[in-house]
Amino acid sequence: MEIIKRIIYPQHNISLKNLQKQFEGKWVVITGASRGIGYELAKTLILAKANLFLIARSEDALKSLYFEAKNAGCDAIYESVDLRDRDALDQLCKELKQLPSVDYLFVNAGKSIHRKLFDSIDRLHDFDRTMDTNYRSLVALSLTLQPCLKTSKGKIIYTSSISTLFPSAPGWSAYHASKEAANVWCKTADAEYSTFGVRVKVAYMPLVHTAMSDVNVTYKNMPAYSAKEAADILLYLAINRRHCYMPWWARVSSPIATLVSPLVRFVYRHFC
Ligand SMILES: NC(=O)c1ccc[n+]([C@@H]2O[C@H](COP(=O)([O-])OP(=O)(O)OC[C@H]3O[C@@H](n4cnc5c(N)ncnc54)[C@H](OP(=O)(O)O)[C@@H]3O)[C@@H](O)[C@H]2O)c1
Repeated sequence: MEIIKRIIYPQHNISLKNLQKQFEGKWVVITGASRGIGYELAKTLILAKANLFLIARSEDALKSLYFEAKNAGCDAIYESVDLRDRDALDQLCKELKQLPSVDYLFVNAGKSIHRKLFDSIDRLHDFDRTMDTNYRSLVALSLTLQPCLKTSKGKIIYTSSISTLFPSAPGWSAYHASKEAANVWCKTADAEYSTFGVRVKVAYMPLVHTAMSDVNVTYKNMPAYSAKEAADILLYLAINRRHCYMPWWARVSSPIATLVSPLVRFVYRHFC
């Protein structure tokens, strides 16, 4: 079982020495740092002696990371912000402009929602909230930090979902539309920014055991990456030359799934 897991979910460990070489003394902004993948990312970057600007709503979790970073000799700032709140996001952007420099922006905060459209008649807010968290915050933070990133030839790394590479499944319209909007934005931004040495990268993340996915009992019992392993993927993507990350099997199965999408739609229509 462990061997199969390692084939489907290969690890991307980076030595601490290499991480320190890449991140020591660099300013790294992370959204969704309070738990799950973003939390593990922050913990690893503290070991690598990066300076951190930590963003999420849960103040206690951010504060404890802040002290951990300070105790490790890193510089750190945290901001408890609901990224769906447009005024609060504007204020956050003003604060980010005060940073001396920014080398990496990890846009990782995310909201997942599974609800079919006939159950969403009075729930337009679900679509607004998902879009604001998963897409609008990416655009706002990237636009704010683009002068800094241009100076440092920095990188934006977006945590997307592997599910956007496959035919759309019932119930996922809000989540997939927001992630797909972000994917397209990242690819377009990369085309523009790369002229100035700034790269925008997308991690098409497969299943990861976190609070987000484990609410679904089926997902909870499936093999998956741990949050730490997923954080390692984000770091691996940040420091290599690739413009995106997806597991090897997605490269093979995604075009096949597109080819057989009429069959997939038939299954969804009759069995989901
Ligand atoms: N888990 C998976 O299987 C999986 C697969 C593919 C992609 N992803 C993506 O990976 C990213 C990280 O997810 P995760 O699995 O680590 O989930 P998680 O454990 O639920 O963490 C989500 C993070 O986003 C923050 N967040 C959510 N809404 C926010 C808001 N309105 N304002 C500010 N911060 C907000 C949360 O902090 P607060 O609640 O403290 O605000 C938390 O730190 C997401 O973008 C997700 O879509 C996950």
